[in-house]
Amino acid sequence: MKSSFLIILITSFGLFTSCKKDKEVIAPTPLYQRIGGEAVVTDIIDQTITNIITDNRINFFFAALATDPTKAQTLRKNLIDQLGQLSGGNQQYTGRTMTAVHTGMNINTAQFAAFIEDFTRAIDSKNLPAAEKAELIALYQNLSADIIGK
Ligand code: HEM
Repeated sequence: MKSSFLIILITSFGLFTSCKKDKEVIAPTPLYQRIGGEAVVTDIIDQTITNIITDNRINFFFAALATDPTKAQTLRKNLIDQLGQLSGGNQQYTGRTMTAVHTGMNINTAQFAAFIEDFTRAIDSKNLPAAEKAELIALYQNLSADIIGK
């Protein structure tokens, strides 16, 4: 009786410690890696920019950048770094805050939605799973309060 109690105690302890170990090992893979890392983030931003340029609902906002390649390159780099960082990559976004950049533009809800649509079409071109697509869109949707109506 005594020894079977001891066996149960030892077995339970073993189970407890192995469960604890499993918990330590399983860490969620960052979105950045799940979608394919730098190459895919870069492609999504490049395709988003292409979509915006041909989107008459919002492309006039970016008119100044069309004649200033240095400014356009900075915007591209900042968008890549920002999306990389937001999705869990090693990039460090060094641009201005979303509120600072978009203040004075008076971007409305429909224009913001058009931007998200252009971004979504870019994601669609990469054929990502639905869960990853939704997570990417949520990263941008979460910034709406800092961008709309500023
Ligand atoms: C979630 C949506 C958006 C994100 C993540 C975003 C992100 C950014 C970033 C990272 C920059 C560069 C910041 C810098 O250079 O310091 C930027 C600049 C800019 N954004 Fe947005 N943006 C969003 C929505 C919009 C919308 C909806 C519009 C207009 C319809 C817009 C218009 C602009 C313009 C014109 C610039 C260039 C500003 C400049 O260089 O002077 N953005 N945005």
